[in-house]
Amino acid sequence: MAPQTVLGIESSCDDTAAAVLRGREILSSVVLGQTELHAAFGGVVPEIAARAHAEKLDICVAQALHEAGIGLDQIDAVAVTAGPGLIGGVVSGVMCAKGIAMARHLPLYGVNHLAGHALTPRLTDDVAYPYLMLLVSGGHCQFLIAHGPERFERLGGTIDDAPGEAFDKIARLLALPQPGGPAIERCAGDGDAERFRLPRPLLDRDGCDMSFSGLKTAVLRQRDALMIDGALRVQDRADLAAGFQAAVVDVLAEKARRALASLVPLTETPTLCVAGGVAANMTIRAGLEQVAAEAGATLICPPLPLCTDNAAMIAFAAIEQMPHRAPDGMDLSARPRWPL
Ligand code: KG4
Ligand code: ZN
Repeated sequence: MAPQTVLGIESSCDDTAAAVLRGREILSSVVLGQTELHAAFGGVVPEIAARAHAEKLDICVAQALHEAGIGLDQIDAVAVTAGPGLIGGVVSGVMCAKGIAMARHLPLYGVNHLAGHALTPRLTDDVAYPYLMLLVSGGHCQFLIAHGPERFERLGGTIDDAPGEAFDKIARLLALPQPGGPAIERCAGDGDAERFRLPRPLLDRDGCDMSFSGLKTAVLRQRDALMIDGALRVQDRADLAAGFQAAVVDVLAEKARRALASLVPLTETPTLCVAGGVAANMTIRAGLEQVAAEAGATLICPPLPLCTDNAAMIAFAAIEQMPHRAPDGMDLSARPRWPL
């Protein structure tokens, strides 16, 4: 089959994104973020996100087509995130995709957002199935074995907060700016990770489930004990940030070790892939690198713009799935929850 030219659309959280792919070639990938719209509220406000998506989707699609240097007449199919995510945003994206597909008589593919993330290593590195995927972002945290473009085996995940959420909340506790991940990573660089022994939740439990909310409580207690006149000393803050980051690394590394043990018997070239914003963290990457090396596996971290939310991964997931599935009809619905 000749490489398909696919328009991808993504609007499940706080990024409005559109991309054009021709096979594995990314002709364009546009991401219009909404960070400043939500900044005053300390988190993504679903209603504000939905409105912004509705306003920006057509501009975003036009820009993606323009940057790709093609018109809708050269598109073979439309792919759109149909869930999971904030329902208002997902509905906006699905309606936009349906409109284009109907007007141009194009096949429409509803894609699972998590499948988009999980298939990204095949877009960037052409990794062979099966491979292990660790998805770590502000909203997700799970280990998956990708057996095929539509077959994912979930080995475990967080039972409460996602690690990015924990980084963001702890940054707030330590009066560091948002997004918390990069701020904590920078602050932790000057800290002593050994000074405070913070908990490593669920390490004593078998399997790959994780928990990060208890860590937040532990940091809060420690912080309150260190506060002098309502403020933290610079060194105390750095040591707490470093201690927290070390705890996250230990949990992710140990659970990755167990997840890799499930993958290794299935393939001669075991690969651990990481996606999501938290994959930007160099200390976490180093921890995972070490675990992969111990298991004789390769660690793959796709370039950050493809690790975080984008529409190229949605178009690519449709391209991967096309040989194995039929397009969706105009009855494609938006699903707030859609486990893989
Ligand atoms: O994948 P992403 O851009 O958005 C979603 O959550 O969907 O991930 C954003 C999350 C935020 O919680 C942010 O604090 C975290 O990724 N993050 C980091 C780093 N950079 C971003 N966490 C730890 N270390 C970092 N360097
Ligand atoms: Zn995502």
